[in-house]
Amino acid sequence: MAKYSSLLFFFFLLLNCLQNIHASPEYSRPHPRPVILTGHNRPESEPEQVHISLVGKDHMRVTWITSDKHAKSIVEYGTSPGKYHSSSVTGERTSYRYFFYSSGEIHHVTIGPLEPNTTYYYRCGGSGPEFSFKTPPSTFPIEFAVAGDLGQTEWTASTLQHIGAKDYDLLLLPGDLSYADTQQPLWDSFGRLVEPYASKRPWMVTQGNHEIEIFPIIYPHGFKAYNSRWLMPYQESSSTSNLYYSFNVAGCHVVMLGSYTDFDADSYQYTWLQADLAKVDRVKTPWIFALIHAPWYNSNAAHKGEGESMRRSMEEVLYKARVDAVFSGHVHAYERFTRVYNNKADPCGPIYVTIGDGGNREGLAMMFEKPSPSISVFREASFGHGRLKVYNKTHAHWSWHRNNDNNSVMADELWLQSFASSKSCFPETSQQESTTQKDEL
Ligand SMILES: [Fe+2]
Repeated sequence: MAKYSSLLFFFFLLLNCLQNIHASPEYSRPHPRPVILTGHNRPESEPEQVHISLVGKDHMRVTWITSDKHAKSIVEYGTSPGKYHSSSVTGERTSYRYFFYSSGEIHHVTIGPLEPNTTYYYRCGGSGPEFSFKTPPSTFPIEFAVAGDLGQTEWTASTLQHIGAKDYDLLLLPGDLSYADTQQPLWDSFGRLVEPYASKRPWMVTQGNHEIEIFPIIYPHGFKAYNSRWLMPYQESSSTSNLYYSFNVAGCHVVMLGSYTDFDADSYQYTWLQADLAKVDRVKTPWIFALIHAPWYNSNAAHKGEGESMRRSMEEVLYKARVDAVFSGHVHAYERFTRVYNNKADPCGPIYVTIGDGGNREGLAMMFEKPSPSISVFREASFGHGRLKVYNKTHAHWSWHRNNDNNSVMADELWLQSFASSKSCFPETSQQESTTQKDEL
């Protein structure tokens, strides 16, 4: 393992050097930082890579990995440390092979019903350390942390530290998690790196290109590691694929879309998306947010046009449903657009935000188009993360927090008014709303 780690380290070092050679002379942004390889620091038999995700209204899926093939798939939990009051649930397990790599046992156990806004203490597999998480509230306010293209570098660690330093309710990740890119031990390393955060708050993720891991003939469908390790509540939202799903939390409907599965008008994903959005009750969930990996709007030279065919297929569906905001990753920079539809500013279109700046090993996407298109409001190539605090059914606050070296500094912010309270864009549900204020969209 040590030999493998040092080989990997030198490979990434070389990659970083090559990238720096191509940087422009006026380059002043932070360089990529080295990959962190995180080992299993507990006894081999104990659970590792613990993370949680929402399932339905009041359940939580607990996922962890053991090298012990006979370890039990049980979670004991309760509201006081060490007291589980015989609350114990048995779940399921899976494992996978990828060429010569065999994963550990991947345990998925869904616990609940759980009370909202409540801290639970839990233990996985009947042994090992106790963890705790807090369930999201059932009503406003609720705060999402948003971070894409995380990877597992020193920048990732910095971003995670900033995310964890201020309370939030759940994390949304618009794709590109581990940057394992077929090197399966890097999935394990990533699971260990994020465990201190992902075991405390639900992580709701969708896939990026670095999750694909297709190998012709042998693994033609890809996503073997991603689907095994990061199981999301797709069945609960009537989806047939872990690559796209939706969930409700505290008055928000969140749609997680798949940039790397079919999205044409005759695809399952398209049909599912239409049906999913048609079911949204805007009185119960006034806000709708969507996440994709490859941005539909992007004024950076990096990945230019890669989201275009998906935009052409699905933009109208989101627009007609009056989706409030769309978050994407892929481009390693931050960019916020105004309300847009079909490439033009439109007061009834979603705001589009690219937040692919979590800290991956590939570095920042420095080359923005000049001049900036009129629909692009703020753009900057720096590492960081976003916060979406939804205060009530009418107003939410979006902010972007740049990693200034090791400090987190809010560099962009915006007040949003919900479409559900907009008389002009959503007349059906907006009878008595609302005051309008400056600096909001
Ligand atoms: Fe990507």
